[in-house]
Amino acid sequence: MRIVLLGAPGSGKGTQCKRIVDRYGLLHLSSGDILRKERAAGSELGKKAESFMDAGDLVPDELIVEMMADAISKAPEVGFVLDGFPRTVNQAAELDKSLDLSGQKINVVLNLMVDDQIVAERMSGRRSCPQCGAVYHIKNLKPKVDGVCDNDGAELIQRPDDSLEVVANRLKTYYEQTEPVVDYYKNNSTVYDIDAGKDADVVKSLVLEKLDALVSA
Ligand code: AP5
Repeated sequence: MRIVLLGAPGSGKGTQCKRIVDRYGLLHLSSGDILRKERAAGSELGKKAESFMDAGDLVPDELIVEMMADAISKAPEVGFVLDGFPRTVNQAAELDKSLDLSGQKINVVLNLMVDDQIVAERMSGRRSCPQCGAVYHIKNLKPKVDGVCDNDGAELIQRPDDSLEVVANRLKTYYEQTEPVVDYYKNNSTVYDIDAGKDADVVKSLVLEKLDALVSA
């Protein structure tokens, strides 16, 4: 299975990817997580990406396309779920071209739809594990112990790009550059719009219902 999860910042892509991976054993490929690891490692790519990420702008396509093509080439036979990529129509077209070379294609696109107001509330309360990438929320998805990751005991952090001003720019960037990707896929793939404003477990049921139907078909 090769899945793309689309949606605004804070729509719950990372949260739902974890649930999809638990169910189907796919590889979770988050472009944001990969970039954050590159930054933490101090790599050339990480350094180049830094200023774009901190401002809430997109990292240039040529850097992202190469990074993700490399990650996808290492995916297991069972497949992968893409989170945060593609984010421009050009990235989507490049992804299609590179999958086509190995006779593959994206099977399904899940478009997580959520209001901007909900996004602001989710981003301000998000806490992330710097070690394993697990995502929590101070009200909606609490860790067992406040401020501590359930998986590895690391101290949870607030992402620097979750400040109000940067979130506003990330949303603007989303509407200008990423929303058109939904139409790109509507023209050449199966796209399901999911109401992602509901509780995380309700969204999970909506997502898995679509994917289960696909698997059994
Ligand atoms: P990235 O890390 O991809 O950020 P994003 O797309 O803005 O998405 P988020 O990770 O912020 O949100 P999410 O949808 O995963 O929500 P989450 O599940 O965490 O990208 C960061 C930066 O990297 C970009 O700005 C850009 O600079 C660069 N970049 C990355 N990919 C790129 C690309 N392809 N091209 C160019 N540049 C790129 O949930 C959010 C919060 O809400 C959490 O606290 C969670 O617990 C809570 N929550 C989730 N679901 C629910 C629910 N249903 N109900 C209540 N709370 C919920």
